[in-house]
Amino acid sequence: MQDKPEMIDRQKVLDALNALADPVSGKGLVDAGMVQGLSLREDRAGFMLEVPGDAVSAYETVRQAAERALQAIPGVGKAQVVLTSSEPPLAPGATRVRRGATLTPDPKSAPRPPETAETPDHVGRVIAIASGKGGVGKSTVAVNLALALVRAGHKVGLLDADVYGPSIPTMLGCDDKPDFVDGKLEPLRAHGLKLMSIGFLVDEAAPMIWRGPMASSALRQMIHDVRWATAEAPLDVLIVDLPPGTGDVQLTLIQKLTLNGVVIVSTPSEVALIDARRAASMFNKTGTPIVGMIENMAFFQDSAGAQIPIFGRGGAAAEARALNIPLLAEIPIDMALRLAGDEGKPLTEGPAAEAFDRAAKVLTGR
Ligand SMILES: Nc1ncnc2c1ncn2[C@@H]1O[C@H](COP(=O)(O)OP(=O)(O)OP(=O)(O)O)[C@@H](O)[C@H]1O
Ligand SMILES: [Mg+2]
Repeated sequence: MQDKPEMIDRQKVLDALNALADPVSGKGLVDAGMVQGLSLREDRAGFMLEVPGDAVSAYETVRQAAERALQAIPGVGKAQVVLTSSEPPLAPGATRVRRGATLTPDPKSAPRPPETAETPDHVGRVIAIASGKGGVGKSTVAVNLALALVRAGHKVGLLDADVYGPSIPTMLGCDDKPDFVDGKLEPLRAHGLKLMSIGFLVDEAAPMIWRGPMASSALRQMIHDVRWATAEAPLDVLIVDLPPGTGDVQLTLIQKLTLNGVVIVSTPSEVALIDARRAASMFNKTGTPIVGMIENMAFFQDSAGAQIPIFGRGGAAAEARALNIPLLAEIPIDMALRLAGDEGKPLTEGPAAEAFDRAAKVLTGR
């Protein structure tokens, strides 16, 4: 027995995984490019085993063998291997037409909504938080809106789907690893929420360079291979924090998901509003209903109570009117809100929390 856990030797891990053969190509798992997002933290080792969509069940034995191989490496206390695929499985009897067509979406072709609508079992609504522009406070809104929904008495799940820079584990001060139970990942629980993040499966500090299809398959898995809810414990809402932007990756993501609605976050600045418009247009084209806009960093309230419109005023309200969607809330610039996010101790009161309470109310009617 050792007092301190040993550091896990990355090369030993790679060698052990490459000693296992991919039954299809005959190559080692690493050489076959199937080992994705390898994470070695303290005594935990995990990765995603990227397999063809048609063969997910066939690879279950490989997945188990990989977990056993990791477990046998000195220093590994807990091993976790998640099967993931770039392509959805085929329906029984179906043949894959234009194989690979979904892997490289043609930006010129008109986006379409998912062909098969899939909502996770026992989940009422899936609401995505999106923005055209990065850094406008999308994750802050996702976390605080989810918490406001909890305060209003809803059962809420929060999925950090920002595969490029998962930040919600930090914002909620939660960096445990989820457990696998009966073939499904169990969400973590924090501040009354059920929580899952791609950041729980991979190193938060590691640069995330995902291919579009890989990102969407990881996201699909976060939605469908997680036990978000059961018949006894249903969820009213699942909030999904999407990565920023309106590129091919976002398009691939929303084409593979059933989103019951999307909330667009923007700051009042013109550049952010232009990107918000672009995002709205993308969602309109894919047939995803936009349920509202949240204006973040709407103003700064000074000690005398005056509201100073640092990034301008009224732009988001005008944009929401033009898009014919409600403006759910105007969130002030609030140092306490930023500190709460950095420290992983979310706000429960004050002007920003109250603004999120109002947004939750408009969104759900309670
Ligand atoms: N209303 C606000 N008042 C003060 N600080 C804020 C506010 N909203 C967001 N911030 C801060 O701005 C920074 C960016 O916010 P956040 O990470 O939520 O943006 P994002 O849109 O999710 O970014 P990304 O595009 O990188 O995912 C964070 O440090 C956050 O704490
Ligand atoms: Mg974010």
